[in-house]
Parts: sequence; C-alpha cells; structure tokens
Amino acid sequence: MSKVIVKRSSAGLGLFANQPFQKGDLVIEYIGETISANEANVRGGKYLFELNDNWTIDGKCRKNIARYINHSCKPNCYPELDDKEERVFIYAKKKIAAGEELTYNYGKDYFNIMIKPMGCRCESCLSKTS
Ligand SMILES: C[S@@+](CC[C@H](N)C(=O)[O-])C[C@H]1O[C@@H](n2cnc3c(N)ncnc32)[C@H](O)[C@@H]1O
Ligand SMILES: [Zn+2]
Repeated sequence: MSKVIVKRSSAGLGLFANQPFQKGDLVIEYIGETISANEANVRGGKYLFELNDNWTIDGKCRKNIARYINHSCKPNCYPELDDKEERVFIYAKKKIAAGEELTYNYGKDYFNIMIKPMGCRCESCLSKTS
C-alpha cells in the first residue's frame, strides 16, 4: 500500500495521507532534475523547488509524486534539505491522520509570485474568507 495518494483538493490535485504519520516521519522525497538557477528562470513552471541561490530541482517529472503537495499557510509537513543541499525530504510536522491532505509552506517568494495573485486556497485561508 502506498503511503500517499493523489486526489482532488481545494487547489487542484493534492497529495493525501494513505496511512497515519507521526510527527517527524519522512513522508516523501521531492525528486527531479537539478538545474542551475539561471536555467530555472528560463524554464519557469510551478514545480520548481529552490535548493539555494545556485541550484533548483525541477520536479515536473511524473515520477515525482511529491509535486502534488499543495501550499498551506498552516501546513502539516515541512521540507528539509540534506547537508549537501542536493535533496529535499518532506517530513510530518505533526501527527497526521489517514485521509488528511499533506501540505507544506512554499515560502515567501513562491507564495508572493504564484499563489497570492490568485488567492490562497489552503484550508486556513478558505475558512477565513467564507
Ligand atoms: C507543486 S503544484 C501542486 C499541485 C497542483 N495543485 C496540481 O494540481 O498540479 C503547485 C501549484 O498548485 C497550485 N497551488 C498549490 N497550493 C495552492 C494554494 N494554497 N492555493 C492556490 N493554489 C495552490 C498553484 O497553481 C501552484 O503553482
Ligand atoms: Zn493559505
């Protein structure tokens, strides 16, 4: 049984827990092609994960199931880089029940450019506007 499952969410497709997670559990790795910051600027796209000022992971490939994780302003997961800043792992920020949508905070830059102009559709923001 897969640990996670892709389903429709309030912000397009999303990734959901298919089992319970404890705080600190590794949920999934964000995988993809590592490209330079310049190349990332040329390519653009919604699946770019910035590792540092020089390198970015382009997570658009279909094998990267983590690309379905949506942004939340009150997330239940967080991304962490390995020591070499080459890989990104997504961990549970708290206890997560099976069926819950998995989310992390995309960070200020991504949020301001890609999410804010259309309005954030995370659970926390949607509950404030309704
Ligand atoms: C990495 S993808 C996440 C998966 C995406 N929902 C999909 O269906 O492919 C990031 C994109 O999803 C959308 N998205 C993610 N979180 C969002 C949020 N909280 N509010 C609105 N759109 C969001 C934005 O279009 C963003 O550029
Ligand atoms: Zn939000």
